[in-house]
Amino acid sequence: MRNFTSVNDLALLSGENTGDAIDALVQKALAHKANPFGRKELGTNKRIGCLFLNPSMRTRLSTQIAAQNLGMEAIVFNVGSEGWALEFEEEAIMSGTTVEHIKDAAPVFGKYFDILAIRTFPSLKNREDDYSELYIKQFIRYAGTPVLSLESATLHPLQSLTDIITITELMQQSGRDNDRDKKPKIVMTWAPHVKPLPQCVANSFAQWINAWGRADFVITHPEDYELSEAFTNGATITHNQEEALKDADFVYVKNWSTFHDYGKIYESDPKWMLTNKKLEGTRDAKVMHCLPVRRNVELSDEVLDGPNSIVTQEAGNRVWAAQAVLEELLQSNG
Ligand code: CP
Repeated sequence: MRNFTSVNDLALLSGENTGDAIDALVQKALAHKANPFGRKELGTNKRIGCLFLNPSMRTRLSTQIAAQNLGMEAIVFNVGSEGWALEFEEEAIMSGTTVEHIKDAAPVFGKYFDILAIRTFPSLKNREDDYSELYIKQFIRYAGTPVLSLESATLHPLQSLTDIITITELMQQSGRDNDRDKKPKIVMTWAPHVKPLPQCVANSFAQWINAWGRADFVITHPEDYELSEAFTNGATITHNQEEALKDADFVYVKNWSTFHDYGKIYESDPKWMLTNKKLEGTRDAKVMHCLPVRRNVELSDEVLDGPNSIVTQEAGNRVWAAQAVLEELLQSNG
């Protein structure tokens, strides 16, 4: 695996089908969780640069911890607030606010680091631009070193791997992991929010759960909040949240802004917020959210503070997802 920017990078692992490759990566992550320092020799004398063009708490800290567990030195650089303003467009006439072209900066990062990890967000102004993934592609093009996505304009693969690790863990604890005929029902439900958010986490979760193939997957959202079919294809999609939640084993709560009429909020109807009442129709479903969460907007206090919430366990697992992926990148790239 040269880079890690989406589930498609796993297709290159060992010639396995993607579902098996995801399972293998999940097992590696759980092995790291059981023995965090067991592969400390792997990253000795290696350095990872974690470049942030946008804010982060979980992704930043979990990636640093994962790298250090593998013996790597992790250096964080807040490019967005502390670095020179980068230009990403080819053949740009740089007479505006950008100071340095990615074509010049990325090879320098490549000299300093063995792995480059990048976080960027979409503008939510121009769908074509955002979905071209220009920023991360330009780093891959010019850095000359493996690139790890810490969330890009359209995807958040480390979050999605974490989510499948967490679901697998819960399935193992309940003894359901060996019974492939009894797939868990996973429901991703849209939630209200006060401002337009990217589609990254929702796109990525749909992409990974579909590729995994181990669940009955349902997406529910209000009308006009359809996501790109490039990621949802294979899932059942409904506007009826109550119907969707029926018999769910896992409920994944996330807001996203509109995809077709790009980057808008049409409604923030509180009736879409997940409450304990709505969980009554589920199979005592575990409730997931990538965090940060707007309490009593996306999710009620009673759910977040109650026994069904696994959001802290989920966030804790970010370390093991990052560690499993870094292990793959270190092994594949010497
Ligand atoms: N879930 C997630 O990516 O959290 P941060 O934005 O805090 O990194």
